[in-house]
Amino acid sequence: MQISYHGHSIVKIKTGNYTILIDPFITGNKLTDLEVGNEKPDIILLTHGHNDHVGDTVAIAKASDALVIAPNELAVYLGWQGIRTHGMNIGGAYKFEFGTVKYTQAFHSSSYTTETNEIIYTGMPAGILVMAEEKTIYHAGDTAIFGDMEMIGKRHPIDVAFVPIGDNFTMGPEDAAYAVELLNPKLTVPIHFNTFPPIEQDPETFKALAEGHEVKIMEIGETLEL
Ligand code: NI
Ligand code: MN
Repeated sequence: MQISYHGHSIVKIKTGNYTILIDPFITGNKLTDLEVGNEKPDIILLTHGHNDHVGDTVAIAKASDALVIAPNELAVYLGWQGIRTHGMNIGGAYKFEFGTVKYTQAFHSSSYTTETNEIIYTGMPAGILVMAEEKTIYHAGDTAIFGDMEMIGKRHPIDVAFVPIGDNFTMGPEDAAYAVELLNPKLTVPIHFNTFPPIEQDPETFKALAEGHEVKIMEIGETLEL
């Protein structure tokens, strides 16, 4: 399995013959190394409906015929735009050909803002567990810290956790370091920082606060072999 980080909350997982793209916010993401026209994933996984997570999902899915897996209301909304979707909800797992996806809770909000200044509410925000090749990857999505992170980590021992550290909209470095205590993953990667002024953070601060746990500050485009 190869896992790469592409700025903000974009994570790409390659397992077997499948490429999975999580939260492909490319247009307007000053950090990312990806280009919309180059991405041909088999699967797009979405944590919630915010524009900085849905991003270029519809364009990429139309070009690649990727299956978009998302919280149910978001899946329905995106399905109306002519793409293939699979709706899920918190606590539910489903075995796909590439592996199992389980949606977990996140404390946040979930809506899509349209070009005509409407806010479409898109159900509950979520975190995502991807279980493949006997590895468990946790993408926390956008969330505050919550006590049941401990339960998630005990129920599904985590190999790699992607956690937001940007503050303002999600956990900041101090809460994220405490979240690592609760989740107890083998490796933690900070995400969702430095994309916009309100979420500017030095990830080294987070790494120092999470002392005693393995933290990797991934470069944009860097790949982990698992
Ligand atoms: Ni959000
Ligand atoms: Mn966000």
